[in-house]
Amino acid sequence: MCGIIGYTGPDSCVEILVDGLRRLEYRGYDSAGVAIQAGGGIAIRKSQGKISRLMERIAKEPVSGTCGVGHTRWATHGRPSDENAHPHLAGHVAVIHNGIVENHRTLKEKMIAKGRTFCSETDTEVIAHLLDEHVSAGMPLEEAVRKTVAELRGSYAFLAVTDREPGTLVGARLNCPLVVGLGEGEFFLASDLTAFLSHTRDVLFLEDGEMVIATPAGVRITDFGGKPREHASQRIDWSSSMAEKGGYRHFMLKEIHEQPRAIIDTLAGRMRPESGEVFFETLPLPVEQLFSMKKVTLIACGTSWHAALVGKFMIEGLARIPVEVDLGSEYRYRDPMVEEGTLCVVLSQSGETADTLAGMREAKAKGATTVSICNVVASTIARESDGVIYTHAGPEIGVASTKAFTTQLVALYLMAIHLARERGILTPREVSLHLIDLSELPRKIEEFLKREPEVAAIARKYKDARDFLYLGRGISYPIALEGALKLKEISYIHAEGYPAGEMKHGPIALIDERMPVLVLCAKGESYEKTFSNLEEARARGARLIAVGTEGDDILKGKSEDMIFLPSCGRYTRPILEVVPLQLLAYHMAVLKGTDIDQPRNLAKSVTVE
Ligand code: G6P
Repeated sequence: MCGIIGYTGPDSCVEILVDGLRRLEYRGYDSAGVAIQAGGGIAIRKSQGKISRLMERIAKEPVSGTCGVGHTRWATHGRPSDENAHPHLAGHVAVIHNGIVENHRTLKEKMIAKGRTFCSETDTEVIAHLLDEHVSAGMPLEEAVRKTVAELRGSYAFLAVTDREPGTLVGARLNCPLVVGLGEGEFFLASDLTAFLSHTRDVLFLEDGEMVIATPAGVRITDFGGKPREHASQRIDWSSSMAEKGGYRHFMLKEIHEQPRAIIDTLAGRMRPESGEVFFETLPLPVEQLFSMKKVTLIACGTSWHAALVGKFMIEGLARIPVEVDLGSEYRYRDPMVEEGTLCVVLSQSGETADTLAGMREAKAKGATTVSICNVVASTIARESDGVIYTHAGPEIGVASTKAFTTQLVALYLMAIHLARERGILTPREVSLHLIDLSELPRKIEEFLKREPEVAAIARKYKDARDFLYLGRGISYPIALEGALKLKEISYIHAEGYPAGEMKHGPIALIDERMPVLVLCAKGESYEKTFSNLEEARARGARLIAVGTEGDDILKGKSEDMIFLPSCGRYTRPILEVVPLQLLAYHMAVLKGTDIDQPRNLAKSVTVE
């Protein structure tokens, strides 16, 4: 979703802004632009399409200055076009914005009635006009922002610059992220810290309802009423090279291969297999509360929701607490019942997904204790939840989530073991067995990744298929959903994930000799049942791809293609099973020639409803 970067300091900022925008590309966008304070005015360069087009524009009409803003747009109001691209200039003020101004129509009508002319179809342009009205009347930009936010409804992180105040950047945040990067005599404001990590790793995170005023002399934070706010800065241990491709052709492939490392990092310091202990430094629940917990609600969106579906099996299976799973966008509007003793666990890689955040706030308002499982340190969800379990996957840049998903599963598994142990359901000896299984997982994934060429060969065979069916049962059913989602997202091939036992109630009608059916059929509690479903598909001529356990030659004999996985425990199985499905989607997409890291229409971090 829209990426924001602003700079003020001693250096020429066009390169800094464009470099920042490149690092935000992964969020997904359709146009890009910059506004620079230059020659006593504000110079705007913007265009629809990729950042390379913006660079061509800048090369044709060079601009330089030491304070400015840059933006990648993901269209919400108004189609992708040069006019709708940000920044939006009105008189003395240029604005970039992420989010949605919900009352923009009313505000626009008011401004038009005052004789103002609008050049775009966006909701953002009203912010620029509101600000300019005040600035043109002689008000300082900071004050103008304060007046303007009082009129806006909706969600936003926006940055504004004016030609009247060289070197000053003002930003405001409500329900969309805004981060401040602290350099030596230079400051960065961005939607996401990857935009400026190559310059500084010292950051301040703005809260909702706060504004930031940055000049080369320093930054100040206030609330919308003008009251100063103090925030301690934090040092981020992600390095900028972690967000580079490191020799891989795509971020997604790099991130698939980083999974063993990411899992090791997520487990580090949290378990002691010898004594059967799990530690969560940031889980805020006293033991008595763990005993009395009556229900767990898991809330998430997209791939994180698939992790939540797996989490239900883990928590119910190990800790014997009833679990409900819901999508953020559904939960927030269904007036959910939150009984006393409810633990709400929210999963979000970015920690900024608008629907997930709103779902969490709803649960909290109704009395639930909230714990988040997040990958981005100090993200909004991480900060607002009562406790947080960080997945240490490192920056995930590919829009299609991979290592963030597998580390979420690891965190959920650890959490389920912890709850089971604290509630006295698992003995230390049983906990040890689970932890040993988890600790062997990175090596097993590493081993499997060496078989990537086999998966690539399968991708070549099926690359022309128009539809795909993914089947799984029990804990593998969410993995079938995730495999199908990965294929859709990056190769644009239609795919459905289905519970294998439900196939006969509908999807079986689709099966013929052209339909590839991928069946997750590793040895485990539902092996026989899934095998029967595979037979049903085979009897109708489906092209079967089986994912099963090493040495299962009977399964191999029944399938056109076979992917073998090392044997493992019940709860690590889904974590292993998803890896070949990620690779299959990746190689299909390579063959299709799609934009793998930034698939069309998708955004990495969905900060609007
Ligand atoms: C977007 C991304 C998905 C992601 C989902 C939830 O749709 O494209 O990859 O799973 O948001 O994101 P979150 O950051 O909350 O896990």
